Amino acid sequence: MPDGDAAPWWKTAVFYQVYPRSFALADLGARRARLDQLGGLAGAAPGAVRDSAGDLEGIRQRLDYLAWVGIDAIWLSPFQPSPMVDFGYDIADFCDVDPLFGTLDDFDCLLADAHARNLRVIIDLVANHTSDQHPWFVDARSSRTAALRNWYIWRDGRGPDRATPPNNWTRAFGKGPAWTYDEATKQWYLHLFMPEQPDLNWSNPEVVEAMTAVIRFWLDRGVDGFRLDVVHGLGKDPELPDVPAERAALPYCVQNDHPSTHGILRELRKVVDAYPHHPVLVGEVFLLTARQIAAYYGADDELHLAFNFPAMGCDFDAACIRRRTDEATRVFGEVNAWPAWVLSNHDQPRLRTRYGGSERRARAAAFLLLGWRGTAFLYAGEELGTEDAEIPPEQTVDPGGRDGCRAPIPWDPTPNHGWELDSQPAWLPWPPQASVRNAETLSHDPASILALYRRLLAARKASPALTLGDLELLATPESVVAFRREWEGDVRVVVVGFGKEECAVELEAPQGGWVVEVATGGEEGLAGEGTAYLGRIGPEEALLLKPGR
Ligand code: NOJ
Repeated sequence: MPDGDAAPWWKTAVFYQVYPRSFALADLGARRARLDQLGGLAGAAPGAVRDSAGDLEGIRQRLDYLAWVGIDAIWLSPFQPSPMVDFGYDIADFCDVDPLFGTLDDFDCLLADAHARNLRVIIDLVANHTSDQHPWFVDARSSRTAALRNWYIWRDGRGPDRATPPNNWTRAFGKGPAWTYDEATKQWYLHLFMPEQPDLNWSNPEVVEAMTAVIRFWLDRGVDGFRLDVVHGLGKDPELPDVPAERAALPYCVQNDHPSTHGILRELRKVVDAYPHHPVLVGEVFLLTARQIAAYYGADDELHLAFNFPAMGCDFDAACIRRRTDEATRVFGEVNAWPAWVLSNHDQPRLRTRYGGSERRARAAAFLLLGWRGTAFLYAGEELGTEDAEIPPEQTVDPGGRDGCRAPIPWDPTPNHGWELDSQPAWLPWPPQASVRNAETLSHDPASILALYRRLLAARKASPALTLGDLELLATPESVVAFRREWEGDVRVVVVGFGKEECAVELEAPQGGWVVEVATGGEEGLAGEGTAYLGRIGPEEALLLKPGR
């Protein structure tokens, strides 16, 4: 990949998250042949669920669409071999492709074709835990003296008969301790997530070495970096102390914040920095405040980026958004860290669903995501204004209740929506109105949310202010959030109205006044694109303004 300007590529990029199971299925025949050859898979998920998931070839065939939308990089959720207890976040071999999704050759083709379109590709690195089917864990649990025993975290139980878990930590997904008793070796092992996802012991240098080899394996193939799953979980207090009783019910994975993780990250950063193509490390630091998250950038020697999750916790609410914008500007600014923004992903209800089903609000939120100072991460399907699918209880498959946002992407209006499904159903129900809310139908409609995303992405790419500029929150009425971005003489203003009524928003104007560059309603609405800004914002409307000439 060619080097960009002085700014590192990941600073100006818009990433697009692809959840491979739900993105596109292109080669069912090849999948069936692979699975037949293997005699099927031992995965926990039922056959139909496995058979109708997306594949790498499906992603490859949609690269032209992604380039057309205007994104710069793709983040691929896990595609490695997995029993799929956590739909890929339980990896049984870090250096291969699950036959469900394809082969390593398929991955190489996908990567080469993405690079040929100037799209970078980062992959998930699920480094906190493995599947319990990973050969490392199979060895570790085989006996107390197994070679890899200490690659995981084992403790004796408490109480006279050792029948009580070693501490009061709670796991994520389903209530219960973060420990499972291993009958054969009579000790407990730690898992911040499901019992099938034992935590690796990162205080063991052999684990660091093994994961470094994994990182090199993918970087040598040409990937452009990693999204580090639950990265704040890696280092643990060696004493494994109880948490205060009032916090015991909160999953420990959102509390672990041990200083030893920073040393681990500095080591991993050195590994990726040694590669000339500037790979990026993006961390999922799922802690509750921007300050805790910002700490994981170190002194520019740990993560390059960490998702700033607090904004995802806001409803469609001006006060909350203003507070989070202000906080991020201050907190990340103080440590000279570049924010990473995300408003939805495969773990949370979709944006539009969270905002009460309103497409208007989803459109307005696009101006925030692509207008904020920092790197933006867009979850596949958000550009279509997709809502979560309704999942009947009998079709629920995820232990964490996240099926709705993982519904397959509808590509066209046909019954299978562009998926090569044969006669079987998709792995999850389609999202609402898929016959009209699909990529093909929306791509023909200049008034669609998809067209709006394209205009916003193009405007962002063309504006140094929007890609690199500082952010200043502007004084506005309470129901409005507005901010100014500026870089080397280039200026833009983003105005988002959260109220139900039209509202006057006076802005200090440049000499030629403000012109609407992009509007939620396109050329319609209070101020259409290409017209002068009238000093007012419509209900739940958003505008991107540029100086007039
Ligand atoms: C965070 C991932 O985003 C989520 O999908 C997964 O279940 C957990 N980490 C465990 O890997």
